[in-house]
Amino acid sequence: MGWYHAVDLLLSRLDAEAAHGLAVRALMMGLVPRDRKPDPPSLAVQAWGRTLTNPVGLAAGFDKSARVPNALLDLGFGLVEIGSVTPKPQFGNPRPRLFRLDKDRGVINRMGFPGYGLEVVKRNLTRRPRHGFVGVNIGANKDSTDRTADYVTCAAALASLADYLVCNVSSPNTPGLRNLQGRTQLADLLKRVQDAIVATPVPLVVKIAPDATDDDLDDIVAVCRDLRMDGIIVGNTTLSRPSSLRSARRSEAGGLSGEPLTTLSTEVLRKTAQRVERQFPLIGCGGVGSGADAYAKIRAGATLVQLYSMLVYEGPPLVRRIKDELAALLARDGFASVSAAIGADL
Ligand SMILES: Cc1cc2nc3c(=O)[nH]c(=O)nc-3n(C[C@H](O)[C@H](O)[C@H](O)COP(=O)(O)O)c2cc1C
Repeated sequence: MGWYHAVDLLLSRLDAEAAHGLAVRALMMGLVPRDRKPDPPSLAVQAWGRTLTNPVGLAAGFDKSARVPNALLDLGFGLVEIGSVTPKPQFGNPRPRLFRLDKDRGVINRMGFPGYGLEVVKRNLTRRPRHGFVGVNIGANKDSTDRTADYVTCAAALASLADYLVCNVSSPNTPGLRNLQGRTQLADLLKRVQDAIVATPVPLVVKIAPDATDDDLDDIVAVCRDLRMDGIIVGNTTLSRPSSLRSARRSEAGGLSGEPLTTLSTEVLRKTAQRVERQFPLIGCGGVGSGADAYAKIRAGATLVQLYSMLVYEGPPLVRRIKDELAALLARDGFASVSAAIGADL
């Protein structure tokens, strides 16, 4: 049994959100072992003119207010995404709002963007000794009367502190937010955000739902190609509930993530990649829990991958394991680098 499995036995007995709070505290106190092993050279990957030592990232939602980005990088991630950040602080939905689906190795959450708000995030990012690759994911306050303006405010304030910015228009837990994925609304939102950061050029990507239909993907990709966006993250949690789910909590309201999302999110990634035709990089996210999962997303068109939920079950040693397995899979199939394998299945 690895050290994390002993810790997980304790954490799994706690309310899931309390366990998350403890994990953040442990990271703040430097109690979580770092990944000190250098990354295999084959895992180095280029994105937006930078070289990352590996393509495995932490997805948004773990560190919403940028409290521990550097400690998270030390776990061995090639990139860490903080947020979603909203302009004003807010509590989010009432607790409980985060559920482990142990039998399915899944998670359901209906957090609703709790966070300390833009000013605190700005302060935390300003204080951070800057290294590694840290993205900032932005959203809108629940009670906002002009959601697009919320994205503009966050983007303008945080662009200079981010290695990339993400417009999250796909959280299912803020009513109406996903409407921003519609063709006209999306074009308007992204154009306004682009205009807001024109003086601080930073890669701008959009994060979409794995529930997007083929027609939705046609529209989203057309808008992104038109506006020369820098990337798409596919994707967020799903509102769907596969019939295979066995856990008692499977009918809780919210977005489902983890293992039950792996196949769906990779399939939607593939469809997105077919439409994008390598005009910009894609980030594959959803149910990554092994090197094989990461490799499947890369072969389906992802330049980078991200994960969150499987970290709940496997803990920090997962990051090293995924990297080692991915390097072995690339070598097995004769790929000298991650870049050579991107889109191999398309
Ligand atoms: C507890 C929790 C909170 C999340 N919060 C956010 C968020 O604030 N912004 C966002 O873009 N995605 C958020 N996500 C979605 C994840 O970033 C990711 O897209 C999704 O969980 C699929 O990846 P996974 O299966 O590896 O978890 C959250 C996910 C979880 C489980």
